[in-house]
Amino acid sequence: MGFALCGSFCTHSQALDTLEELTSLYQDVIPIASEASVETDTRFGKARDFVTELERLCGRKVISSIQTAEPIGPQKLLDVLVIAPCTGNTLAKLATGVADSAVTMAAKAHLRNGRPVVVAISTNDGLSTAARNIGELLCRKNYYFVPFRQDDPFGKPTSLIADFSKLPATIEEALQGRQLQPLLLAAE
Ligand SMILES: Cc1cc2nc3c(=O)[nH]c(=O)nc-3n(C[C@H](O)[C@H](O)[C@H](O)COP(=O)(O)O)c2cc1C
Repeated sequence: MGFALCGSFCTHSQALDTLEELTSLYQDVIPIASEASVETDTRFGKARDFVTELERLCGRKVISSIQTAEPIGPQKLLDVLVIAPCTGNTLAKLATGVADSAVTMAAKAHLRNGRPVVVAISTNDGLSTAARNIGELLCRKNYYFVPFRQDDPFGKPTSLIADFSKLPATIEEALQGRQLQPLLLAAE
């Protein structure tokens, strides 16, 4: 499995917890992170600490460049690629065929092998600018979504977030060619 993280920094700790769970279920998990994720210190944590934890959990170096992501295609390195969290930025690129980051290159390389990509969205513009990109990927072959909901309908009316606890089940279904249902969750 490839486990790719984008720069939704508020969900990194949740994503790393889920990754830890996945490393006990899957033998070989290759960590991938966007350039923004590995270079940006935020109020949610230091980039260096994030990379150290990611590499500790997977026991391997993180792929964080276009160059190191490219072999995923020709070497058929992954059965499934997980992108969790996936930002509005990366959604837009995936929807339009842009591959100018480690994560989008990993997706492009992996998709050429006709294998599943599992996307866990986390973006404040999920029901505005990013909606069209989510819609585009929903009808694209080999894309599967972790069920998602509005996380704060009144405070952040266009924000959407995947339910990370459903990631392992979404992966299992995606490996069988099925979308986990229900895809659309009620706001809590
Ligand atoms: C503190 C912080 C939190 C952010 N949280 C999010 C987020 O939850 N979702 C999102 O789509 N973008 C978020 N962004 C913006 C992305 O990091 C930015 O669009 C970046 O270019 C994403 O690059 P990537 O998609 O290659 O990781 C955040 C930025 C900062 C500085």
